[in-house]
Amino acid sequence: MTDRVKVTGFGGSLRKKSFNRALLYECPALMPENSELTIFDISEIPIYNQDNEIDLPKPVKDFKDAIRSSDALLVVTPEYNYSIPGFLKNAIDYASRPADDNVFKHKPVALMSASVSILGGSRAQYHLRQVFVFLDSYVINKPEVFVTLANTKFDENLRLVDETAKGFMKQLLQNLVSFANDLKKLEKK
Ligand SMILES: Cc1cc2nc3c(=O)[nH]c(=O)nc-3n(C[C@H](O)[C@H](O)[C@H](O)COP(=O)(O)O)c2cc1C
Repeated sequence: MTDRVKVTGFGGSLRKKSFNRALLYECPALMPENSELTIFDISEIPIYNQDNEIDLPKPVKDFKDAIRSSDALLVVTPEYNYSIPGFLKNAIDYASRPADDNVFKHKPVALMSASVSILGGSRAQYHLRQVFVFLDSYVINKPEVFVTLANTKFDENLRLVDETAKGFMKQLLQNLVSFANDLKKLEKK
């Protein structure tokens, strides 16, 4: 019997009718057995300032604590101008500091994106992968979850109506939890 795997999810966008937030909120119901997903709201995280690293602002401390106490992370994000939205990159930058307390180190990470375009936010994901290389995280490679033409994939209540996408999401979450479980077993040895 394996321990329960705790996953923290964040990202989305700040707008009320965000497809990415809607995608994130589909995920708790798609989690495998023996795992749980808690969603963390990063909208309160202030703009990064290295002067504040000695005594981090409370929202940053809370975000770091949530990451530290998780076995794995899920990031669901839009693509802005071919890259990572500024507020998301800012939150990751803050939580990665100070450098000797990088809470992303050795955390498995799953990425998802939704976009109104036909590429589904892929470029934001590839830039995020690069960021997580520096942070020493383990980004799950496959399946890649890109919800393309997002304006056609959600109903009026912002529920995802694309069963193919749901299948890929479920598989990615399964792979994330399996990897986190394997890592926990290795750490116990
Ligand atoms: C500032 C900005 C830049 C954008 N740049 C891109 C882009 O580079 N690639 C893309 O696929 N969509 C881009 N979009 C369109 C987003 O995919 C679309 O607005 C999407 O709905 C945003 O995600 P959300 O619904 O979660 O807010 C951009 C939107 C904004 C507001």
